[in-house]
Amino acid sequence: MDRRTYLKTSVGTVAGLGIAGCLDSITGGGDDDQTLTPATNPGFAPFEMKENGELVGFDVDLLNAVIDETEYELGEWQEFDFTSLVPALDNDRADVVAAAMTINDERKQTVDFTDPYYSADQAVLVQEGSDFSPESMDDLAGHDIGAQGGTTGEGLIQDRIENGTYEESNYNTYDNYVFSVEDLENGNIEAVVLDDPVANTFASNRDVEVAFVFETDEEYGFAVQKGADDVRTALNEGLQAVRDNGTYEELTNKWFASE
Ligand code: ARG
Repeated sequence: MDRRTYLKTSVGTVAGLGIAGCLDSITGGGDDDQTLTPATNPGFAPFEMKENGELVGFDVDLLNAVIDETEYELGEWQEFDFTSLVPALDNDRADVVAAAMTINDERKQTVDFTDPYYSADQAVLVQEGSDFSPESMDDLAGHDIGAQGGTTGEGLIQDRIENGTYEESNYNTYDNYVFSVEDLENGNIEAVVLDDPVANTFASNRDVEVAFVFETDEEYGFAVQKGADDVRTALNEGLQAVRDNGTYEELTNKWFASE
């Protein structure tokens, strides 16, 4: 089993179900209407990552602070592959996704989003001190590149495979950006395309650097089940409250202080 398969298996079954999930499936769902089950995909620092086995990050703190402003309570966090987050809402395995998820029309066909809570562009990471120093998306043509499956970064690459700018054989898809950055450090691939705030975190912790930023003007929102207007409205009011009371700024200072 390679490590990609391993991640899929471990996140999809063990962590994905979790103790709460197992109990729910025995009792037929113990959650009352006021308890929202949150879901995410860690490995995307500083938004969501595991530290000593504990899920932490800006999204985790922000959603907790937002929920505190509402009538709702937060249940156990569930972890899924990034590609399984939208389906998890759709299949009622989660009520809210906090995963640095970009609001876009494709996802809006299946889920609803809160108001935006963070903005991002895409960035391209290369090995630190590498001879390869691309300056544009076109410069990546013919080079081995990677991204996390189901992300907007992957979408940029797939668009270019479809229009013939990139070769399909140059593209490596990963279940987690951490593995793509390890492959980049090891020289197995030459570049990784990902959200710029996360690229900056990898650049400060690992032997990689940002070659250039590609402006995409993305906005992250919390995703909720389609038609869950009560939940969405409450989260929007909560977001406004944490902006007004200074908590939002505290949290950005806490998690993005080094920028
Ligand atoms: N913002 C990008 C998207 O929505 C990447 C998000 C990846 N998030 C994560 N938790 N791995 O596609």
